Parts: sequence; structure tokens; C-alpha cells
Amino acid sequence: MCGIVAYVGNKPCQQLLLEGLKRLEYRGYDSAGIAVLEKGKLRVCKSIGRVQNLEDKLEENGGLSGNLGMAHTRWATHGGVTDINAHPHIDDKVGIALIHNGIIENYASLKTYLEEKGHTFKSQTDTEVLAMLIGELYEGDLERAVQAALREVTGAYSIAVICEKEPNVLVVARKGSPLIVGIGNGEYFVASDASAIVSHTATAFTLDDYNVVKITPEGFHTSTIHNVPVTPRIEQLEIELQEIELGGYQHFMRKEIYEQPKALRNCLRGRIDVKEGRVILGGLAGLAKELTKLRRVVLTAQGTALHAAMIGEYLLEDLAKLPAVAEYASEFRYRNPIIEDGTAVIAVSQSGETADTLAALREAKERGALSLGVVNAVGSSIPRETDAGVYLRVGPEIGVASTKAFVGQVCVLTLITLFLGRRRFMSTEHCSELLKALDSLPEKIEQVLTQDEAIRKVTEKYCDRENWLFLGRGYNYPTALEGALKLKEISYIHAEGMPAAEMKHGPIALISEGMPAVFIANRGRQYDKVMSNIQEVRARGGHVIAVATEGDHEIKRYAEDVLYVPDIAEPLSPMLTVVPLQLMAYHAAVIRGHDVDKPRNLAKSVTVE
Ligand code: M6R
Repeated sequence: MCGIVAYVGNKPCQQLLLEGLKRLEYRGYDSAGIAVLEKGKLRVCKSIGRVQNLEDKLEENGGLSGNLGMAHTRWATHGGVTDINAHPHIDDKVGIALIHNGIIENYASLKTYLEEKGHTFKSQTDTEVLAMLIGELYEGDLERAVQAALREVTGAYSIAVICEKEPNVLVVARKGSPLIVGIGNGEYFVASDASAIVSHTATAFTLDDYNVVKITPEGFHTSTIHNVPVTPRIEQLEIELQEIELGGYQHFMRKEIYEQPKALRNCLRGRIDVKEGRVILGGLAGLAKELTKLRRVVLTAQGTALHAAMIGEYLLEDLAKLPAVAEYASEFRYRNPIIEDGTAVIAVSQSGETADTLAALREAKERGALSLGVVNAVGSSIPRETDAGVYLRVGPEIGVASTKAFVGQVCVLTLITLFLGRRRFMSTEHCSELLKALDSLPEKIEQVLTQDEAIRKVTEKYCDRENWLFLGRGYNYPTALEGALKLKEISYIHAEGMPAAEMKHGPIALISEGMPAVFIANRGRQYDKVMSNIQEVRARGGHVIAVATEGDHEIKRYAEDVLYVPDIAEPLSPMLTVVPLQLMAYHAAVIRGHDVDKPRNLAKSVTVE
């Protein structure tokens, strides 16, 4: 969603800020803006559309010079996509500029209060209210004014603030929306996402909720909004620059699909002992007692992460014999959920910042659940708030359409299942057998990737159709949902995923001559039933594209097109069958001329409800 970059130091900052914004483009936004203190005067430039538009506008106007500044990409919530609503927002009376990620929930009452005090507002945003409030409370100390204003605010925020009266000072703060401070040599870099600063420094600290940091070229001071000093934990960022660059690929999505074998190898490294049938998860090691007492698991997530969680549900019940349920976090949190003794909630999330998932986690914790995280982004909010967890270790995911994080999530949920299963009913031999299969997965994904061109050709045949179905059963029912989501979000084709058996209960009415129906039809317990469902579609003129197991020649009699994946134990199959679906969605979007990495209306990380 929105992105923040800020700089204070000894370098001219315009270019540096724009480069930072470009690194955040993947998060999704619809306007951009920049403010720089130029010889003690605030200079601001904003533009709707891409960061490139802002850059062009700056160039037309001669650019901004100054060593202290900040820039923002906005994803509209309060107020439409206009230059005026873009950040930074200004308090003219004091000369304050502010950029903000998040939502100020009590902005309406604050606005009324400020209007009574004589402030007039130019935009429809909640952010302008905060800028004015800081101006109203300013008594010669920006840090104090920010603390005082934030004590009045409810909602979520990460902010950066500068002021004409204190031309060397940058103040930043966070509650519920990530913010990181990178430490250079006599210079500091602030961003809402490490990818914006990693090319400058690897030494950084993440703000905790309610922290305020005052930064000058000479140093920084961290406190709470109540002015209690805080000592931040300075760490080394683990992101490599090449992980956030295209490296020869046309799109991040394609790069990340191709990175999946490597991502899985990293995910598995040091965590499996095939011979001993043992899973080693350092993140869960301290919880041995609680985990043996587990009676129920609730997996909660949104979007692609929910599809992974649904596979987790099947895995836990099937292999660890533990009752499990996967739920939309947005529903779980509001439906008065019952958490009995011995319940663990697992929050599954790539970003670790999804607002609904975080809120569901908090709700479950409040009600006494043991809280676990399955997260990719190290140090993000979910792992900071859970009792324990397991990181995906698949590297940064830049493409808005989640791909390698999905296989990473399923892989970690498989590891957790086997970890728990071995503590319950699972034999060493059974675990060993599954671990061996898991270990073979990266190579098998590589084999699927060799069929990329064949997958593109099949996609080309159908990608002018506006309605698709994705059907699967058992472990591959969530895969069908994921295939449909991938297609919709980047190619804007209407697609529905469902259990293959559900089709007869209504959706079959949609099938018309030539409608593409993708069946996940790999060999497994319900193979014969899937074959019957395929015939039902064929009988009504639908065109069947089957994802089948290598060597299954029979299926060619029923499907127009067959995409093969290598054979693998059924519980692990979604990590293979999803790959052709990811590639189909990718090719459909490219053929239809869409910007794969910046799909319309979407944000990489959904940090608002
Ligand atoms: O960061 P998270 O995994 O919590 O994000 C959850 C969803 O917003 C995310 O998976 C979304 O559905 C993806 N864009 C799908 O590709």
C-alpha cells in the first residue's frame, strides 16, 4: 500500500528519495509526492500516477535541492486520487510537512476541533488533519509536538515529519504500520520497507509501536509518544540487493516463479532429517510442552495465504490427526470465535503486516490461544506479536501476485504438520517417506518450469475468454482457488475456483461452448471422481485444461490440453500443481498487455481493513 522514504544527511536527497520510491512501487499506489527543505524553506511536488510522472514534473520545475527530505507513494483511502490528496500534507502556519501510511480513525473529530481553531483544509484526507494537529501543538520542538499529537490519535500510522523551523530535524513515528531507520555514516535513511534503503545501508532498526525517533545528521533519539526513552535494537538487514532487482527477468512475478526451487531449498535447509524422520524447527523448539497438549488448530489468513492455510488444514487433519480449520482472518476476528483450551492459532502471511490477519491473531491471543506465525518478512508485526513461529525463508517477494511465498507457506505448514505428527501418531517411516518426497520437490518444480513455453501456448489459445473455472478436489481444491485468484488479479479475467464436486450444485449452469475449465487432475485419492467431473464439463461444451501426473496418457482422451507435473505424494502435490497455474496467469496477463507487477487497484501488502 502506501510507501514512505525519508533522508537526512549530507547528500542532495531528491534523487535518492525518488530511487527509494521506485523500489516501493511494487507495493501498489496511485499518486506520489516529495518534500525537501531547501535553504530552510519547504518545497513540495506531487503528482497522480507513477513515480515517473513525479520525476518528470520535478524536472520541468527545475528539481529540488536540499539534504533533508521525504517522499511518499499513496494508495487512496480517504479522498480520491488527486494531486491535492497526495502526500506530503502541509501545515502552513508553522511550515510542517508530513507523510503518512495507515488510517487516522478519529480524523473527523480532530478535524472539527482544528476547524474551530481556525485551520482550513485543502484535501479530503485523514493525513492533512494530523499535519495540522502537529502544527497546532507545536511550541518550538517538533519531536514534542509529534508526541503530543500522536497521543490524541487513534488508528494506525507510520509517519515522517519535517519543519521549516528545525531545518536539520526529521521526526518519524510508528503504530501498527512498519517503519525502519537505516544508519549510514553521518546520514540516516527511513523507509516503510527495507527494500528502499538496502542499497545504502544494511545497519538498521525497526520502530516498535508508539515509538518516535528524532533524527539529525549527528544522531538520533528514540522515545515513546509519552517521551519515555527507548533503546532500539540495531540489526543487520539480511536482504541482498539482487533479491529485489529484476536480474534479467521482465517481471518480478516471473522471476519469483522461477525462484521457487531455490526458495524451497532455502526453506528446507537444516530443517529436515530424512533418515531419522525428524523435522527440526528452531522457532517451535521452546514450545514442546504446549504443542503436545494441542487439541485444535485455527489457521487464519487472507488471499493466497488463506489458500496455503486451507492446505495446512488438510495436512494437519490428514497427517498429524489434529482437528484444524482455516478461516478468513477478516471473518474470524468479528464472529466471536470460540477458543477452547489447547487451541493454537497460526497466522499465515507473506508480509506479516496484513491488517486483518494481525487483528485476528490479536483476537485469538486475547481469548487464550497459543499464537504461531508462518511469515516471510523477518521482523514484521506478526512475528513480533506471536508466541513462536517459523519463517518461510523464500527471500523478498516483490511481485504483487504471490507465488514463491505460497509454496513457502505450504512447505512450512507441511513441516509444522510433520513436526506435530511425529509427536502424536506418525511413524518415523511415514515421516521419512514424506520428507524424502519434500526434499525432491525443488527438482520437480524445475521440471515443471521447463514446460513454460508449452504452458504459454495453451494459455494463448484461451486467453481471449472472459470467464474461466478452476476445479480441484481434496488437497488441490485450495490450489484451484489459488489458480483462479492468480488469473483474476493480474489478467483481469473473471475466474472462479471451487471444489470440483460443487460444480453440479449451480456453477455448471455457467458452462457454455468453449469455456475454459482448468482441472487439477493429478493422481490421488479422488482421481476417478475428478475424471467424472471433467466429463460433465466436456458434455456441455466446456474446454478442459488438465494438470495431470506425468505418464497419465489416458487423460488426453478427456481433456483438450494437458499440462504435466511429476508424480509426488498427494499431500505435497499442491506445491507442484500450482506452478502451471501461476505460469498460465502470468502469460495471460502479458498476452493481454497488462502490467504484471503493478496490477490495477492492488497493493502488495494490505495494511488497512
Ligand atoms: O502478506 P500476506 O500474505 O498476508 O497477504 C495476504 C494477501 O493480501 C495476499 O496473499 C494477496 O491475496 C496476493 N496478492 C495474492 O497474490
